[in-house]
Amino acid sequence: MPDRPLRIGMIGGGCGAFIAQPHQKAIHFDGTRRVVAAALHPDPKIAMDEAANWKYPIKGYPSYDEMIADQSKLPDDQKLDYILIVTPNFVHFDAAYKAVNAGIPVICEKPLTVSLEEAEKLTEAVEKNNVPFAVAHTYLGHWSTWFSRHIVTSGLLGDIRWVDSSYIQGWLATQVENQGAEGAKWRTDPKKSGGSLCGGDIGTHALMQLRFVTGMDVTKVSAHMETFVKGRVLDDHFTVYCELSNGGKGMVRASQICIGHKNDLAIEVAGTKGTLAWRQEEPEKVVVMLPNQPDRVYWRGAVCANDGFLGDVPEWLLKEPTIPSGHPEGFHDAYARLHREFEKDVRAYWAGKPFSCDGSKYANIYDGRMGLSFIASCIKSNSEGGAWEPVKYAK
Ligand SMILES: NC(=O)c1ccc[n+]([C@@H]2O[C@H](COP(=O)([O-])OP(=O)(O)OC[C@H]3O[C@@H](n4cnc5c(N)ncnc54)[C@H](O)[C@@H]3O)[C@@H](O)[C@H]2O)c1
Repeated sequence: MPDRPLRIGMIGGGCGAFIAQPHQKAIHFDGTRRVVAAALHPDPKIAMDEAANWKYPIKGYPSYDEMIADQSKLPDDQKLDYILIVTPNFVHFDAAYKAVNAGIPVICEKPLTVSLEEAEKLTEAVEKNNVPFAVAHTYLGHWSTWFSRHIVTSGLLGDIRWVDSSYIQGWLATQVENQGAEGAKWRTDPKKSGGSLCGGDIGTHALMQLRFVTGMDVTKVSAHMETFVKGRVLDDHFTVYCELSNGGKGMVRASQICIGHKNDLAIEVAGTKGTLAWRQEEPEKVVVMLPNQPDRVYWRGAVCANDGFLGDVPEWLLKEPTIPSGHPEGFHDAYARLHREFEKDVRAYWAGKPFSCDGSKYANIYDGRMGLSFIASCIKSNSEGGAWEPVKYAK
């Protein structure tokens, strides 16, 4: 592939949409990727008006169907290099399925789809077409998440006994969906959100954080899905006791009714030698607690290998930070890391070379399917009063 910026097509993002904005910043972060086309809204006229008034020039399409059909007719070297899907959950499957079948790589927002059946069908399509596919689990893109994964998976904490992964918010503590909050309207609608509100929306982030940092799967769940706000059909509070693939135990919990909590994603991993703690609201540091020692606080960009706890740290990990420590990296940097890693796989794909897409840098299609498999098991367990349920595909 010629050394030119990648061309990205966006599905969703018009009319003041939320997550399309951080994605655009992340796409344009390195100068090697650009949004050049978009289907911004389900209403064709609004989609075209929004595109015509976009902050920078883009080719507008009245619908994603037309965008993908138009792209399918082009020779490979003129096609969009990848498509970004930032619509409500119920649109993900159809848009992603069509893009993948047109041979175009996709970054899709989470949760991957609204049902396990859709996720399975999409996985088959990705395998058949052999295209790079990412699911936007943002928080895997923090350097500190990669560093945590290094610490845990290289055995520095010993055998893992317990993991507590949680994502706590308070913005749905009242019925804001009836007070004009657009993002709350579709999220609380089972047809648009899926079988779980809180579990699908943010419980899947907590699940992915657990899986990525530990390298382990959740193999069985005992779930309690509660609805505290009257008038809602879906859960706004989600508590899941888990069995882990190494025989350890864990908790994946999420809530959207805990007033005062904003985007309080946190993970603690307790092993036989020590405990690791990380919070996304302070994503620059990883804390390691060892017996009879002061806590060790590792800051992004200021880690030294062989310090008495860490052994060798891979060169690529030490070199990865984009700016010196003390200049804070955050949410946008994490998204940029996701797009940057995906770009490598996309460039390889279009050059006809092998690409990795192996889940070690960002969530792939199998991680996305695992999110829906986990939710399906939680729904079943909850309906049986918290009975233990196996999680399909867990290894
Ligand atoms: N990874 C994260 O941290 C994170 C954070 C927030 C949201 N999300 C996910 O991102 C997705 C979008 O969430 P949001 O909060 O930005 O929602 P939003 O309601 O703010 O925006 C959705 C956008 O999709 C557009 N849209 C809807 N149907 C469409 C269609 N058929 N064709 C084209 N555009 C269409 C809407 O017009 C709007 O522009 C959801 O899946 C959500 O779960 C992820």
